[in-house]
Amino acid sequence: MMNSQFLTSCSADAIQRAAEQLIAGHLVAFPTETVYGLGADATNEQAVRRIYEVKGRPTNHPLIVHVSSLNALGLWARDIPDFAISLGRAFWPGPMTLILKRQELARDFVTGSQDSVGIRVPSEPIALELLARFELLGGLGVVAPSGNRFGRVSPTSAQHVQDEIGKNLVHGDLIIEGGNSNIGIESTIIDCRNDTTTILRPGAITTEMIKSVNGINFSTAENRDLRISGALEKHYAPNAKVLINQSPIKGQALMALSAFETPEGVYRISSPENVSDFARLLYSSLRRADELGFDVIVVLIPEGQGMEIALLDRVSKASNGL
Ligand code: TXA
Ligand code: MG
Repeated sequence: MMNSQFLTSCSADAIQRAAEQLIAGHLVAFPTETVYGLGADATNEQAVRRIYEVKGRPTNHPLIVHVSSLNALGLWARDIPDFAISLGRAFWPGPMTLILKRQELARDFVTGSQDSVGIRVPSEPIALELLARFELLGGLGVVAPSGNRFGRVSPTSAQHVQDEIGKNLVHGDLIIEGGNSNIGIESTIIDCRNDTTTILRPGAITTEMIKSVNGINFSTAENRDLRISGALEKHYAPNAKVLINQSPIKGQALMALSAFETPEGVYRISSPENVSDFARLLYSSLRRADELGFDVIVVLIPEGQGMEIALLDRVSKASNGL
């Protein structure tokens, strides 16, 4: 049972109230298909500052602006290339964030003073409903980082948000209960500021999917001039030490595909059936290892060039590059 004064259901009334609270300058954590976000009105400097405080996040890290449709892109971004529109048409609403040159509306407190802005249209119906109602009330966009303390594992349920930041919320803030996030890892971030496209953070929208879009000039070069907190060496980390693709030994926790047999003395945390299951269960499994007090969790990542890349990225960061 959740014990939270902030928790609210996802009924139409509750979502309407949450939209009103955003307009009033409060924080609202809400489910998205990737992970739970901690939302604030993207034009309200005070509200956005509170996000940084609540998360304990350095203020020069940029936030993603969430809007209800592709139509709002021009409000926040300028010089939008055609291929970015094509990406939006192909994968929005969905687990993709586009980095574009910013409009004036995207202020320094949103972009970390960079000349770019990250924009996403989430597909989770509760998130879309919240954004649509917020926009009907005159709102223009909702910034929402993952609702975890800085550097920690992203939340994939309302309970996780409560556990991470509940104690830092104040009267008027809300957490919308919307079950478990379907995808389970953060959106794919694509840099669209230049003629060539680069992936800044891999996710459920894979390289292959991006390359299939017309007009894409794909580059695998890394972009080092952008600040991206997920690109820090250690991120998404539980307390337990995370070991990747090593043989688990007695006393360790294990996450592996169901086909892998649990060695004797090893505690099986989860047994996903396939790669999307793996992503969905990854963060709750890392949390579970902590709750159970394990010092080590071994994660055996499936091999492949699809979402496996994103899994390897997140687990590598959780393991601090080990
Ligand atoms: O799936 C997601 O993207 C989730 C849900 C809630 O939408 N949000 C999320 O936000 O993961 P956050 O703040 O935890 O991670 C956003 C990443 C950060 O690493 C940030 O540096 C990067 O996006 N980012 C945001 N704006 C950027 C910009 N203008 N240029 C480069 N990177 C940017
Ligand atoms: Mg995050």
